[in-house]
Amino acid sequence: MLQHDVLIVGSGLAGMRAALEVSEDPSLDVAILSKVHPLRSHSGAAQGGIAASLGNSAEDSWDLHMFDTVKGGDFLVDQNAAELLAREGPENIFELEHMGCAFSRDEQGRVAQRRFGGHTAPRACYAADRTGHAVLTVLFEQLLRRGVKVYSEWYALDLVVRDRVCQGIVAYDILTGQIEAIAAKAVMFGTGGYGRAFRVTTNAFASTGDGVVMAYRSGVPLEDMEFVQFHPTGLQGSGILLSEAARGEGAHIVNSDGYRFMADYAAGRMELAPRDIVARAEQSEIEAGRGVTDLQDSVFMDLRPIGEERIRYALPSVLHLARDFAGIDPLVDPVPIQPTAHYSMGGIPCDINGQVRLKDQDDAPIVGFFAAGEASCVSVHGANRLGTNSLLEAVVFGRRSGRGILDVVKDLEPTSIDEGDMARAIGEVDKHLRADGPEKVGAIRAELRDTMMDKCGVFRTDEQLHEALADVKSYQERYERSSIDDHGQTFNTDLLDAVELGHMLEYAEVIVSGAIARQESRGGHARRDFPERDDDNWFKHTLAYREEDGPRLEYCAVNMEPQHREAFPLQERTY
Ligand code: FUM
Repeated sequence: MLQHDVLIVGSGLAGMRAALEVSEDPSLDVAILSKVHPLRSHSGAAQGGIAASLGNSAEDSWDLHMFDTVKGGDFLVDQNAAELLAREGPENIFELEHMGCAFSRDEQGRVAQRRFGGHTAPRACYAADRTGHAVLTVLFEQLLRRGVKVYSEWYALDLVVRDRVCQGIVAYDILTGQIEAIAAKAVMFGTGGYGRAFRVTTNAFASTGDGVVMAYRSGVPLEDMEFVQFHPTGLQGSGILLSEAARGEGAHIVNSDGYRFMADYAAGRMELAPRDIVARAEQSEIEAGRGVTDLQDSVFMDLRPIGEERIRYALPSVLHLARDFAGIDPLVDPVPIQPTAHYSMGGIPCDINGQVRLKDQDDAPIVGFFAAGEASCVSVHGANRLGTNSLLEAVVFGRRSGRGILDVVKDLEPTSIDEGDMARAIGEVDKHLRADGPEKVGAIRAELRDTMMDKCGVFRTDEQLHEALADVKSYQERYERSSIDDHGQTFNTDLLDAVELGHMLEYAEVIVSGAIARQESRGGHARRDFPERDDDNWFKHTLAYREEDGPRLEYCAVNMEPQHREAFPLQERTY
């Protein structure tokens, strides 16, 4: 059995920031485990910026940022978390700057800031359109400097919890095929989101909700899983992200008539309305027959109003992605774009110090288990995240989780993992290696992704959602009869695909069940049959508890108790 004081699972911004914080105490043995090399973590794909109310290019304040976040999240935001996000934003940016993060600069040499949807001030600090990569790189450098142990290309199979005390994890070394127990007094999940269950997505292949499902299987409820964000500017077909920064810099979105249709949906903000609103507007135009290209499944984003020089300087990735993946030169032609599954608002419930909580009557913690970033649900994004708030959440709450761990870890007892704790993981791997059923993992996964996109997508209805649930259950049955082709020990990605599909099928059921139950439209959850927000009945978080025959849904209150100011009351959300 391997052993550490603290084990961070996931090496994106949240995980690395937490590990860095814990490593402040040199007496602690901290390690990071990740199924991909840390610099390939999905945080690196974030393009347009990281929010903070620095006020460098226009007046701004943390409480305006907090308000924008609460309103952007359609008021399902826990306001204590939103306050911390906004208040601690600037110091986190300065900290990254001092670590050497290569932020773009304004004319006075300060961190440059640009506009993003739903933010009332230019608040996105950026490194051209490679911001996630810039931040990821400096955090990794700091971890190397501190000598943090990294298990790179190790896959976490199980979280071990005994009597509500976390013991560690069971992990699989992808290179050798060995299964190992890793005990730790504190474990933090920064394992990312669950967008890969949708056909069209910006998400990396790794975003298969592994951590979310491991927590769910060990008795933790999942919170607000029905809230999935569709980003309005995915490259048509593939869904590859073309940064919202393009709109922040002045790109237009037009339909087949060349009309900037956002004038009909959010005239005050146009293309810079929050993502849920722009994605619904696009989908409505497409469904009304005003889509572009032969497939009629997209609208155009026109970058030419920005001008060539600025595009080359501020949006080099957008330029290259459109050229390389669609064969379109944005300097010359508009680019076909469509809504693409981008961000998971739901996840593992935790408090503002990253402590995972059961959210039952006593709000009991799982001792020694922490979460941060997209895998978690501290509910700072509510029903719809604002662009650039995710990188900020990852560093603010990654750091807070690190501190939360430092506060308790010295008082935690050493933990242990025995053969019984490893049995499920060993059994699962063994089952896949020996299975000879007729069904194929890739085929089931493709059908699942179609179902989620077409029946649980930008717009939803009761009928579609019930069909989606029946589909998911039938895929779960077929999965039991599936087999893989590679039975080897070395880098068996076929095996990992099968394990990941098990996760996707499990959380897809939770997403759909939550979406069926929530009979209102709020943020990223848009029901055609219940088009209004219904605060009387649905101003509450969903909690899904795992039962034998599927999730049991319960609900809990939205936090409206920020520490230092009055709460923002519910109001109509118009832009
Ligand atoms: O559009 C983007 O650059 C994405 C940023 C984000 O999701 O925060």
